[in-house]
Amino acid sequence: MHPAIRVQNLAKQFRLGAAPRGRPNLTERLRGAVRALGRRAPAAPEFWALRDVSFDVRPGEVIGIVGRNGAGKSTLLKILSRIVEPTSGRAELRGRVGSLLEVGTGFHSELTGRENVYLNGSLLGMTRHEIGRKFDEIVAFAGVEQFLDTPVKRYSSGMYVRLAFAVAAHLEPEILIVDEVLAVGDAEFQNRCMGKMRAVSAGGRTVLFVSHNMTAVQNLCSRCVWLRDGRVAADGPARTVVEDYNRAAVGSAGAEVDLTMHRGRTSESVPAMRRVRVADATDGRAPAVPMRGTARVEVEFEFEHPVEDVTLGVVVKDGYQTPLFGINNKVTGGMPQPRPVRAGRVVCQLADLPLMPGVYPLDLFLGTRTLNIDTIYNAAELTVLPADVFGTGHLPPPNAGPICWPAVWELVPADQLERKVD
Ligand SMILES: Nc1ncnc2c1ncn2[C@@H]1O[C@H](COP(=O)(O)OP(=O)(O)OP(=O)(O)O)[C@@H](O)[C@H]1O
Ligand SMILES: [Mg+2]
Repeated sequence: MHPAIRVQNLAKQFRLGAAPRGRPNLTERLRGAVRALGRRAPAAPEFWALRDVSFDVRPGEVIGIVGRNGAGKSTLLKILSRIVEPTSGRAELRGRVGSLLEVGTGFHSELTGRENVYLNGSLLGMTRHEIGRKFDEIVAFAGVEQFLDTPVKRYSSGMYVRLAFAVAAHLEPEILIVDEVLAVGDAEFQNRCMGKMRAVSAGGRTVLFVSHNMTAVQNLCSRCVWLRDGRVAADGPARTVVEDYNRAAVGSAGAEVDLTMHRGRTSESVPAMRRVRVADATDGRAPAVPMRGTARVEVEFEFEHPVEDVTLGVVVKDGYQTPLFGINNKVTGGMPQPRPVRAGRVVCQLADLPLMPGVYPLDLFLGTRTLNIDTIYNAAELTVLPADVFGTGHLPPPNAGPICWPAVWELVPADQLERKVD
């Protein structure tokens, strides 16, 4: 089968600080006038926003594009949507393309909402009649009925994106290209966008979706391309690419901490903890743990004398230093110790972590059953990564607190309630 999208050795070079081509607007003319008063700007350095990017997309595939700010995601989508010309390489698309790019592209700001719907439809090659059939659906989805005859330049950015998404998704494109729409709308609109994109892909059409929302990418996309500094860093199953990307974003700093001279040690402590390592139990090298994963806290120690009942306490705190939970092997048991030990390592596994994505400081207490010998506050950090733990693509809002607790739901209709009462 022919690919729906074929990208071959695509590259895009920009001149940093260069004015965009086209007629200058007022700001640019002012800027030019100001520049003319001062010294001439030095020649703009060149910069590659995309380099050697190649991939194929099968018809019906739903692909996520992830990467840090400035990685080249929007540039790639603009080339695919024929808004920007590549410096070299090729991008071939088979089928009608609907695209929703950053605010400011796609719509004509002087035209009204209604006029823009018709303009976009005809750019997609639809007849006036075809657009007319879809019109009400688009307007209802966007929720902009009252503003249909207002020029879109007067729209709020939220309204603008609602209408732009509605147009891109409803005008029956064979390829839907969406850049970051979920960042703008409110929660209810984001839900509807996710639902619509799922419906478009279920209808066998191809979707390319750029987002910083990793839960949405994992949920919606089967495959994911990770762009790093304009190059393809990974291309594979969405689950694993997103996990790798998350881990790279965290870096390896903070995963392993030297405790010999730690500033968080209390003054009455006798130094005994030497190192701590916090890692994902399923991938011992990964410094961060996905939600509901298992964290491994490994503490290397050396006492002055052998100790017969080594005891480690771990307290997990939120960003405001409030303890969320704490645990030690005195209360849980389960760390058999056949003989006194002077030096070694205690490994504590925290399974099924009920934490929201974030960074959690850890306090460590090492000693015997009855005595704390070495106490270090904020000895290390536990980093929890987002994951699609409910399989819905959604997580509780960050302001709902640091704990993510599962729930089981049931709805009982009123007539059944009455029957139960009888
Ligand atoms: N018209 C332009 N002129 C000069 N540089 C540009 C232009 N457009 C984009 N760039 C640069 O190209 C790089 C890639 O930008 P792009 O918008 O594609 O990144 P992105 O991955 O979409 O980032 P974000 O996640 O912030 O949206 C950036 O360094 C950006 O500053
Ligand atoms: Mg972008």
